Amino acid sequence: MPAVYLDNNATTPVLPEIVEAMQPFFSAQFGNASSIHRRGQQARAAVERAREQVALLVGARPAEIVFTSGGTEGDNLALFGLLAQLKSAETDHIITSTIEHHAVLNAAERLRELGVEVTFVGVDSECRVDPGDVRRALRPNTRLISVMAANNETGVLQPLREIGRIAAEADVWFHTDAVQAAGKMRLNVDEIGCDLLTISGHKMHAPQGIGALYVRRNTLLSPLLWGGRHERGRRAGTENVPAIVALGKAAAVASEWLEAGGPEQMSAARDRLENALVSEIEAAQVNGGGAPRVPNTTNISFAAVEGEALVIALDLKGLAVSTGAACSSGAIEPSHVLTAMGLAAGRARGSLRFSLGKQTTAPDIDYAILLVPETVARLRELSPMWKPRPAAV
Ligand SMILES: Cc1ncc(COP(=O)(O)O)c(C=O)c1O
Repeated sequence: MPAVYLDNNATTPVLPEIVEAMQPFFSAQFGNASSIHRRGQQARAAVERAREQVALLVGARPAEIVFTSGGTEGDNLALFGLLAQLKSAETDHIITSTIEHHAVLNAAERLRELGVEVTFVGVDSECRVDPGDVRRALRPNTRLISVMAANNETGVLQPLREIGRIAAEADVWFHTDAVQAAGKMRLNVDEIGCDLLTISGHKMHAPQGIGALYVRRNTLLSPLLWGGRHERGRRAGTENVPAIVALGKAAAVASEWLEAGGPEQMSAARDRLENALVSEIEAAQVNGGGAPRVPNTTNISFAAVEGEALVIALDLKGLAVSTGAACSSGAIEPSHVLTAMGLAAGRARGSLRFSLGKQTTAPDIDYAILLVPETVARLRELSPMWKPRPAAV
């Protein structure tokens, strides 16, 4: 049976050259990057090389990169780190959006419990934040705007440059969660105008449990973890050298891929899949298809099928994809992102996310084009909700 993986927004396989790059740091070069002997210095050199590679990927200076345990920590460090070091007499206010990953949404909720005022701006039916809404949400006590670069469910890109300009004019910090954008599209922190930017290794072919936060020079940030003076006092704890080396290598691989036209090829493959599914499957609709997107993602609603049932049926035939739905205590909640876009609960529940990776091949796409239409048709035959369009006479 084929084993086709189109769930790269959940996690990506670590590419062979990245495994190879990190391997020596488990054994021959196992040093602690803070040790002053030779082994320590080798590890330190590898960490600093990785810092340069990550900095290059986002157009930053190496000293502005803080290694973290992943996207969740990066987002938390950005939000709590900034708010914790403010000593304002008045209550602080932050602005974020309703379609953020829970790493931002729940951090913002926690800040609210701690007394910070939070505004969640909504999105339009194409999953885009309106910069005008961000501007209108500004208050004299606004300290931070946090809006993601690319949505993890729809792949839709947010108008970061406009928001960056609004933040700069208002003299407010600007953070962007770029976990789903980094390595898939060209990113430059100066062009975006952000002060903080989160990336995560496992969405770009490095291992799970490693990431980085870009922190613009002179941005005061209080650490989340207290201990040694690692990462220039911004993140205590012995560095995970093999994983940091892997993140650096993944950034270098991504930089080359971006230069070599990788995004254009990937979006062509994504569009081939999307167009085939929408033309072959009745009442299939792309969510966010009218907006600019990262090249690897498409989110499609199939009327009258349960997304979870479709994921399981496809998995049984060797195709891994995912729904935007979150399953908690047996009840399937429609995705907060699709709901924020105004999709009815039924359509949101019948949505699947297909996300490509750098390892995805043309035969992988062919297999999905073959399998998804017949699987949707089979499930619809069993669905009391399905009313086929009458045949043309
Ligand atoms: C947009 C976004 N932000 C943050 C995260 C969390 O990253 P990590 O899994 O590295 O903690 C994810 C992971 O799905 C994500 O998609």
